[in-house]
Amino acid sequence: MEYPRTATVSKFMTLERHIVEGARAHPDATGEFSGLLHALSLAAKLVWREVTKAGLVNILGTTNHKNVSGDEVKKLDEFADETIFKAMDHGGHLCVMASEENEDLLHIPANYPYGKYVLIYDPLDGSGNIDANVTIGSIFSVHRRLTASGKGTMEDVLQPGCRQVAAGYILFGSSMMFVYSTGHGVHGFTLDATVGEFLLSHQNIQIPKKGSIYSMNEGNFNRWSPEMQRFVQYLKEEDKESGRPYSARYIGSLVADVHRTLLYGGIYCYPGDKKNTNGKLRLMYENNPLAYIVENAGGAASDGRKRILDIQPGSLHQRTPLFIGSRDDVSIAEEFIDGKR
Ligand code: AHG
Ligand code: MN
Ligand code: MN
Repeated sequence: MEYPRTATVSKFMTLERHIVEGARAHPDATGEFSGLLHALSLAAKLVWREVTKAGLVNILGTTNHKNVSGDEVKKLDEFADETIFKAMDHGGHLCVMASEENEDLLHIPANYPYGKYVLIYDPLDGSGNIDANVTIGSIFSVHRRLTASGKGTMEDVLQPGCRQVAAGYILFGSSMMFVYSTGHGVHGFTLDATVGEFLLSHQNIQIPKKGSIYSMNEGNFNRWSPEMQRFVQYLKEEDKESGRPYSARYIGSLVADVHRTLLYGGIYCYPGDKKNTNGKLRLMYENNPLAYIVENAGGAASDGRKRILDIQPGSLHQRTPLFIGSRDDVSIAEEFIDGKR
């Protein structure tokens, strides 16, 4: 007998089920990849637990940088860095990792098996916002290894973003979200804390083709090129159709600014300037995974001249300018940067 469908209970699409059903579409899947994503979602919950305590550290008597168990209280970005590493090091999914917080590659401890994937992550993005209770997040990027076996190498990590097999981010905001793509749409899950599960809340996110919001640190205006300055001037002019200029929104946590851009449309920019020719954001930990997400939702990401995902990285911590968001808005930005407008 089939259970009669009722209108009161909808399909429970947990993150885990979504990952498993996605893997079933690939008959050759070994489960390694599903295991990797599942381990990441656990890491996310562990980081979230700590993030929610951010303002309580002093009140709960954990001063002098010691917590109740006598351990040293770590800065949240260091805590997130270690937590993600430890959640991911032993599952046999990965051959190597790289994190924004560490200068060199992070190798899998010798007593654990090596897998066929590479994980690159920004453990806590927007960390300067923690004390103000503003949304922050973690960003991740997954590649398939290039070397045949054993310990992963720099060659496995330094692949262009177009070769990512998955990417996503976790948002620590008014609720906690896990947003990911494996190249088949972008899907967002919200944590239901009462049951400890991520539930599908944003299926197949599509970014508007053109938006009406721009997001950038305009404090840097005087350092920008005349082309970039003209682009911003254009955004402030009244649009013929809407009769209004673009609105400005800047949180200062890239992951949150991009999430809003993904849902509402528009453009986020971190251009190069006189002081920092490649801007501030890092290709491997920030720009590549977010470009993968935004492209899979129908948007675009550019360094002002070329597609972010086509850049061949030269080093782990390299920076590139970033123009990301609605397709039309990114192409208008490119025209300005190129001096065509
Ligand atoms: P992180 O916290 O990982 O070091 O990243 C900070 C980044 C990014 O999140 C944010 O958008 C950007 O720095 C803000 O830079 P400005 O302060 O120059 O605007
Ligand atoms: Mn960051
Ligand atoms: Mn960071």
